[in-house]
Amino acid sequence: MEFKLIIYEKNEGIATITLNRPEALNAFSKEVVSEVLQAVEDARTDENIRVVILTGSGEKAFSAGADIKAMIGMNALKARELSLMGEKLCVAFGNLEKPVIAALNGYALGGGLEIAMSCDIRIATENAKMGQTEVNIGLIPGWGGTQRLTRLVGPAKAKELVFSGRIIDAKTAEQLGIVNMVVPADKFKETVRQFALDLAAKAPVAVKVAKALINKGADMSLDSALELEREGFGVVASTEDLQEGVRAFTEKRKPAFRGK
Ligand code: CAA
Repeated sequence: MEFKLIIYEKNEGIATITLNRPEALNAFSKEVVSEVLQAVEDARTDENIRVVILTGSGEKAFSAGADIKAMIGMNALKARELSLMGEKLCVAFGNLEKPVIAALNGYALGGGLEIAMSCDIRIATENAKMGQTEVNIGLIPGWGGTQRLTRLVGPAKAKELVFSGRIIDAKTAEQLGIVNMVVPADKFKETVRQFALDLAAKAPVAVKVAKALINKGADMSLDSALELEREGFGVVASTEDLQEGVRAFTEKRKPAFRGK
């Protein structure tokens, strides 16, 4: 696979997608989105891959959002297309049956934050900064920011952030529940890697079903979601990995899960 705007690497069961347009703070152009979608599809179909990491190249940014320079002269139809394009990527991460970690190595703004919020886990460096900054250029979030941010932090804080376009630091984002953890810059890469390796060692079917239940359940009544959980519990209980997990527990050793 040949990529021009991302770096795609596979190692120890982890697929890492690095947005690689540091000169534009890793802004998402149509071409970047298309390359990331191809990489996600590869990670989805590669049985050896258990976890995906999405990050940015350079010291400054994870991603500064959608490519603003491509918006000159944008009309309503083009804007709708732009919105669909980003949402397609968010849905690809949300539906991927493997956990996705957004490693926020710097600015995560506008569409950059929206893509990060469609991932399962967000780990940020101390100097990362986040914001739904669209109002600053006369726009609104178009890749799910009004919805996913609201689900993460509640309507009051979501309105504060979206209306003001304010950029917050990583610690504030952690307190609000936007990021899972904040790590000093010198420990960032290793912490993300260890976190990914830890997830990669878990039973893949259990993780996959848990992800689907958490994602789908958010839009359902509690009763229906609990019923779905019972079905999922049954599915996971039918895997060889459950028997391996129970055997490993009784034999006081680490389980070797095979995703079956
Ligand atoms: N699109 C295209 N290019 C971008 C970009 C973006 N989103 N963000 C930064 N760049 C470019 C700059 O134009 C600049 O390029 P040139 O040297 O060719 O001028 C380069 O990246 C470096 O950026 P700055 O010189 O601005 O760097 P800075 O350190 O002074 O500022 C910043 C950093 C605060 C992140 C600032 O770049 C900024 O505010 N960027 C825009 C962030 C933003 O508003 N994002 C939302 C985009 S809209 C969106 O995403 C809609 C949606 O919901 C889908």
